[in-house]
Amino acid sequence: MSISDFSASRLTIPLSEPVSVAWQSPSNIALVKYWGKTGRQLPLNPSLSMTLSEAYTETKLTALPRESEGMVELDLWFEGSQNPLFGDRMQRFLQSVTDIFPWLTQVSLKLETRNTFPHSAGIASSASAFSSLSLCLCSLEAELFGIILTEEEFRLKASYVARLGSGSACRSLFPGFTIWGRSKALSGASDLFAVPFAEVHPVFRNLHDTIIIVNREQKPVSSSEGHNRMISHPFAEARIKQAKKNTIDLLDALKTGNKKTFIRIVENEAFTLHSLMMTSDQGFMLMQPETVRIISLIQELRRKTGLDICFTLDAGPNIHLLYFEDQIEQVNKLIVEHILKNDKQNVRIDDYCGEGPVKIG
Ligand code: DP6
Repeated sequence: MSISDFSASRLTIPLSEPVSVAWQSPSNIALVKYWGKTGRQLPLNPSLSMTLSEAYTETKLTALPRESEGMVELDLWFEGSQNPLFGDRMQRFLQSVTDIFPWLTQVSLKLETRNTFPHSAGIASSASAFSSLSLCLCSLEAELFGIILTEEEFRLKASYVARLGSGSACRSLFPGFTIWGRSKALSGASDLFAVPFAEVHPVFRNLHDTIIIVNREQKPVSSSEGHNRMISHPFAEARIKQAKKNTIDLLDALKTGNKKTFIRIVENEAFTLHSLMMTSDQGFMLMQPETVRIISLIQELRRKTGLDICFTLDAGPNIHLLYFEDQIEQVNKLIVEHILKNDKQNVRIDDYCGEGPVKIG
């Protein structure tokens, strides 16, 4: 499927009354990391993620009548207040997708959005924000033009659109585990949108993710800037090769229920992401002393207790501790007694593998 398979529609008669739709869509955590992009938000390498459950964005999008056509007109409300900075990013995104949704220049838009999780807590808010907005755009279009797509076509289109807003957002459209980027391991995988990977062994179906917040400050270098540094990175070629292999091996582990391989690859990916940051031109480091303390502790506790725990990191200092359904109690004890023990500042957010977006209006 490509974007030319989706017809771009314009209103023939002006809108006479407001039309609203609403979606809730979760964030996701990458297990194989997307790091580096080219062209119109195309990834340099395949990535694989787990959709979260509790961390999501609720978005309501309303199209209102407008007298004359022009640039996208957006009134954005984030958690009950107007937010100019976020509004500008969303306006730029909406303007950039007017080739897909030409009708966006013929209506006024009101966007109301809220997150179930705190800002800068190591949960990608752009993934849930752009996936929920993209679902709203596709739903609104379907209502305005009576477009009927199959459930699969609808999700793939929303994933395509979400990718243009934020790469990782395209993986939030599906339940469980999702792949974005061409891979030899899966024939339907594409750089244009993400696809779900359903053949997952039962041990992974309820995988848990406890986010240990180390620091909530704004990152010194944004993800967008980090992606840029991959273009001329001395290790780019090796990284792309590694990500392709890790995707193949992780899919196989997910299929066969191989926890040891899962742990090995997930931690390898987290370390690689942060090594790439440090070894890029004008290298930077997002890990903090507390991040390093907790990572070392997780690895030590795994060795000592034999529990199948592992960590991953986003582009930030906060830690995602991953563990399995049958070890919840033991891991919870470790979190309370060891991991959070020495630092009263760090807080946890408990999440787990989720079912994907839900239409709420
Ligand atoms: C480290 O999706 O936030 O979380 O496409 O520029 O919006 P943009 O970047 P973004 O990058 C996410 C990077 C990552 C890894 C991942 O989620 O795969």
